This record gives sequence, C-alpha cells and structure tokens, in this order.
Amino acid sequence: MPIKVLPPDLAARIAAGEVIERPASVVKELVENALDAGAATVRVEIEDGGKALIRVSDDGEGMDRGDAMLALGRHATSKIRAAADLIGVGTFGFRGEALPAVASVSRFELETSPDGRTGTRLRVAGGKVEAVEDAVTHPGTKYSLGSVLNHVLMHQTVIGLESKKQMEKAGFYPDLVIGCVGGGSSFAGLSFPFLQDKLKGRNAKTRFIAVEPEACPSVTRGEYTYDFGDTAETTPLIKMYTLGHTFVPPGIHAGGLRYHGMAPLISHLCHLGVMEAVAVHQNPVFEAAVQFARTEGIVPAPEPAHAIRVAIDEALKCRESGQAKTILFNLCGHGHFDMAAYDQYLAGKLEDYAYPKEEVEKALAGLPKL
Ligand SMILES: Nc1ncnc2c1ncn2[C@@H]1O[C@H](COP(=O)(O)OP(=O)(O)OP(=O)(O)O)[C@@H](O)[C@H]1O
Ligand SMILES: [Mg+2]
Repeated sequence: MPIKVLPPDLAARIAAGEVIERPASVVKELVENALDAGAATVRVEIEDGGKALIRVSDDGEGMDRGDAMLALGRHATSKIRAAADLIGVGTFGFRGEALPAVASVSRFELETSPDGRTGTRLRVAGGKVEAVEDAVTHPGTKYSLGSVLNHVLMHQTVIGLESKKQMEKAGFYPDLVIGCVGGGSSFAGLSFPFLQDKLKGRNAKTRFIAVEPEACPSVTRGEYTYDFGDTAETTPLIKMYTLGHTFVPPGIHAGGLRYHGMAPLISHLCHLGVMEAVAVHQNPVFEAAVQFARTEGIVPAPEPAHAIRVAIDEALKCRESGQAKTILFNLCGHGHFDMAAYDQYLAGKLEDYAYPKEEVEKALAGLPKL
C-alpha cells in the first residue's frame, strides 16, 4: 500500500488518543497538573461518567494569558527545558501533551488566574482556540454587551436607511428583507427602517426573515423568557429568545452567529409574528456562498451566507410560482479570512451539526428562576 504522511489535525488526534484513552485519563491529567501547580485543594466535578462534563478546579499558581495560550500547544511545558532535565523530573507531567490532547477531543474551556484578580478564559472547539475572554475573577471587571442592546441596533439602522435610499433610486421596494442573526444587530439595522413602513400600514406585505444557524437556533428553538446576556451572569436579565446563557454552541464557521440569545427587539418582533425566523445548516449555507461568489465575484463571510442561502431559496420559490419579488438581503461581511472554512467545504469535510438538544435542555434548566 502507498505510504502517506497524515495531515496535522489527524496526527494530533491520534497522538491525543495515546494520552486520553477514556474520561478517567482526563481526570488524571488535570489533577496531575493541579498538583504540579502546587494546589492545596483540588475539586473534581463529573457528570455522566465524565462524558457530559469533567471540571477540575485548583488553587495552584495559575497562568497568565500568554502561558494559558501556550499551554494549549503541543510540546509546550513549563516543567522541563532541556534533555538534561529529564533526569530528575520532579513533576507528574513534563511532556506538554496533556492539555492539547484533552482539548482536541473535547469541547474545552480553561479559566485561569495567576493572582486571583486578573483572569483569562479560553475556549477551544475542534482543536482551535476560538475565544479569549477576560474571565470575571476581578471584582472591578466590567462586562459590556454589544450587538443585542437597543442603542447598538439603532446605530446600525444606518444600513437600512442607506438601503432604502438606494432602493428608492432604483425604483424598488423590497417584498422580502433577509438577514443573518447572531445577536441580531445587523439585521435590525437593515430591517427596522423598512419595518417602520410595515407597522404604519404602508407596504404591509413585506416579509422580514431572520436567518440563524441550525447549530445555535435561539429564535426557532429557544425559549422566550428572561435570561442573562452573558455566561458570567453579570448583565441584567433580558427578555429574549434564549438557549440558556450556559449553552456553548458547536464550533460552526459562522462564529458571529454563535450567541445563546437574541436582541430583545428582534425577539419581541418574532414573538409578535411581525418577523419570521428560519434556521439553516452550514453545508447548504456554503453551497449558497460559493454560488454567490461564482456569480457575483464577491466572497461572502459565512455569516451573511446564511442570508444568501435563504435569499436564493426564496428566489427559487418565485421561479416555481412565476411570481416576481424584490429580495433585499444584507451582505454584512466579506469572507477573505474564511478561506479555511471554504477549503473544508470544498473538500467535503464540513460538518452539519445536529441541533444539540440535550445541551440546550441542560442550559435551559439553568435559566434564572423568576
Ligand atoms: N492547573 C494548572 N495550573 C497552572 N498551570 C497549569 C495547569 N495546568 C497546566 N498548566 C501549565 O500548562 C502546561 C501544559 O500542561 P500539560 O498538561 O499539557 O503539559 P505538562 O503537564 O507540562 O506535561 P504532560 O503532558 O506530561 O502532562 C504545564 O506545563 C503548566 O505550565
Ligand atoms: Mg500535565
């Protein structure tokens, strides 16, 4: 048989298999790290035999942000520096393999603080670090929520006002206004100036469609209730469609659409039925993105490609029914930095995540009790 060198992500997973054979190996590695860090107390929490959750907390020396980022790379260790150090190793670990191994086979979160005041939270999905957040370990830390709050939505209405002017110039008014929604601000920005007409009884037939990912379907599958805007529970309670503030969506490429909640104004309008919401999978979204790129010469980001998917679907419906409709959608970003995602799609390696029902149920069970 011909010999081939394995791609790095596959090699990393195989290497991970040598460190992590079963959930118990994760506990062993994390407890060893805690002890190596000089912890006096180590707390281990486990759900469903370690399949649902393994959390190891310690009061050891912790890491600053730079070290926390480094710790997730392979062969990154603070415990040896040179071959000579191998003789007389005084720690449980020294290979620098455990954390990257755990992270490559799990949905991984690391929260650490070197001094109990400043902190870092890293989230890894599919072996990639995808969020560096200031963990709220400091009493003075302020959390500011963008995107979903009313003033942000209002600011974004420049998009819709501008579109309205352009459509007027072109002599059209949209029958359909379509946009992707994560927190909902860009879609609010596009749609609200048109929605004003609908609410005043002008152009009453115009439909407004918010498109969300199937992997994080806040409006289509969430609950309309009060929830925190953030995982750390620092915001006031917000009435919105939510999947639960502890819900961590699967690592889809449209990172901008991975928010557990939805802008209260968009939520309210969807609840009233003035706006509609639909959820779509990644693969059909990228199919639409590629079609759009090939026909328009613009490579869209994965987020607006959600809107493009539905715009194309609606246009196809028109072709079938013989109706002519004006469809307005928001191309809210280019995809020049999303080549890896396109690569994956074109190689047929993009995963369509099923709706994470159990995760959502668990997160919804943690909604604040009113
Ligand atoms: N709980 C912790 N507290 C403080 N630092 C930690 C903790 N866990 C890991 N680290 C840091 O991250 C580095 C990487 O951890 P990792 O477990 O991947 O490798 P290691 O312990 O050095 O070697 P091994 O792979 O043999 O366990 C460690 O060397 C240590 O500096
Ligand atoms: Mg270790």
